[in-house]
Amino acid sequence: MKCRIDRSNCKIFLNFGKMPIANGFLKKKDFKSEYFFNLSVGFNEKLSLFQLKSNPHPKKMFNKNYPFYTSSSKYMVKHFKKFAQWIKNNFTKNKNFKILEIGSNDGTFLNNFKNYFHVGIEPSLSVHKVALINKINSKNKFFDQTSLKKYIKKKVFFDVIVGSNVICHIPNQNELIRNVKKILKEDGVFIFEEPYLGAMYKKISYDQIYDEHIYMFSASSISKIFQRYNFHLIDAIPQITHGGSMRYIIKRKKNENEKNLVNIFNYENKKKLNKIESCIEFKSNCETSKKKILDKIKSIKEKGGSICGYAATSKSTTILNYCNIGTNYIDYICDTTKEKIGKFSPGMHIPIKDMDHFHNNMKDFVYLFAWNHKDEIFNKETNFKGKWISHVEL
Ligand code: TMP
Repeated sequence: MKCRIDRSNCKIFLNFGKMPIANGFLKKKDFKSEYFFNLSVGFNEKLSLFQLKSNPHPKKMFNKNYPFYTSSSKYMVKHFKKFAQWIKNNFTKNKNFKILEIGSNDGTFLNNFKNYFHVGIEPSLSVHKVALINKINSKNKFFDQTSLKKYIKKKVFFDVIVGSNVICHIPNQNELIRNVKKILKEDGVFIFEEPYLGAMYKKISYDQIYDEHIYMFSASSISKIFQRYNFHLIDAIPQITHGGSMRYIIKRKKNENEKNLVNIFNYENKKKLNKIESCIEFKSNCETSKKKILDKIKSIKEKGGSICGYAATSKSTTILNYCNIGTNYIDYICDTTKEKIGKFSPGMHIPIKDMDHFHNNMKDFVYLFAWNHKDEIFNKETNFKGKWISHVEL
């Protein structure tokens, strides 16, 4: 395959097989028409870039029914408040400060910038509507040439452009960077947080790989991609969100003090994150992980134990479909999102139930799909006296 960004050779090293839309929770009547695609992954050594071979059309993923609300996690609400404060402390010196968020979801982050000139660009109608209720200046559009026309024409330039867990969703990174360049002030910053390749390798959290995550970035790959457009990665700050993420800070001018960045590049070189070898090792780790979790589940069932799932995450779609885990193993998955409750999980069709159902029908074992929200969940589910299980270490 050819790299999506520079068209150089990209080696496919991992194939998860047939996958549905990760956030495509569905009703029984829609089982027959469910959409599937082949989930396989390639690596371009030249750009150090981990990427999906193919992905469903973005309109299939981000639409009026998109069921992921950033505010569903109290921890994430706090995280975005802190992130906003960090931006205010470092980048709001200008009186006419302007900020734009790509993929602003329900406005959780921009809620902290209501007193500033702010714009949220959000293609999914469901979450955009909530942002409007929250009085966020949200536009129900994809971040593209059309949505930016108005700002380009009126010469509105932004001090800060932000994206969280959305930049890796954008198939055409070349176009994304060109568009950022058009509306970013000369001394403006582009800041984004994304799940980190190094963290995924370390935790063997291969459930981070699903249709929306077209790329899994590292500091090395981001630096190389942006250099192609004379942008510079000036800092990278590790985050614990989403099981290990990285905040990237991009500017037109290079930084003088890059000590932190050098340390991160050294780490990535040491771990061979720039080489296909690390991909091959990851592939083998995924296979071992699949075997281990299936052995565990089978052994629980053989002993007469019951299992339910906790949190119908997008990530769980990869686990359930790749490991072929259905209602033969897991009775139901509970979740707080009203748009998911009463529907079935993509591909494997496990029923999604509300939290009352969980509290009234506790099982011997609970598969924690939202392992990245473990602290928040363990703190509130102290009544559960059985065992938590997962494919990653809890
Ligand atoms: P994500 O992993 O795709 O971000 O989705 C998180 C899902 O987990 C979302 O559907 C909400 C659900 N969730 C709960 O059901 N209970 C919780 O306590 C938390 C933090 C999340």
